[in-house]
Amino acid sequence: MARRRPRILVLHGPNLNLLGTREPAVYGKDTLADVDRELGTLARELSVAIECRQSNHEGELIDRIQAARGRFDALLINPGGLTHTSVSLRDAIAAVELPCVEVHLSNVHAREEFRHRSLTAAVCIGAVMGFGKTSYLLGLRALAARLAQA
Ligand code: DQA
Repeated sequence: MARRRPRILVLHGPNLNLLGTREPAVYGKDTLADVDRELGTLARELSVAIECRQSNHEGELIDRIQAARGRFDALLINPGGLTHTSVSLRDAIAAVELPCVEVHLSNVHAREEFRHRSLTAAVCIGAVMGFGKTSYLLGLRALAARLAQA
């Protein structure tokens, strides 16, 4: 019997809607639409289905994570600045018990000290950072591989 295509929810946190114009020396010139388009192309190649959402609001991200239970098989998230501050986002990821990969465009460990701590990474199965939009693509590949093993 044919297996259902795994479904992955892609979440972009605060300020990632500004990609392309926001500090391009740090985050690159690609827009969020470019990132989502490339993720869509890769998702087809990997035979997974993705839904991409961005929010500047912590509560909306938490609502989406909670609603993902039963609808999605995994989460790919760039929590933006909430990575370093949000206990609530971390708790939401832990609560839904879906495999989650954290991604960052920049290498947060090569930046200001306040970015070195991630509250969310410990409840994720892994993290990819420092490769610009390729971080998202590598994260999606890692999740697809994990779901294929399951
Ligand atoms: C970021 C890194 C965070 O420190 C920052 O607040 C962001 C983007 C990244 O993708 O490199 O908003 O998550």
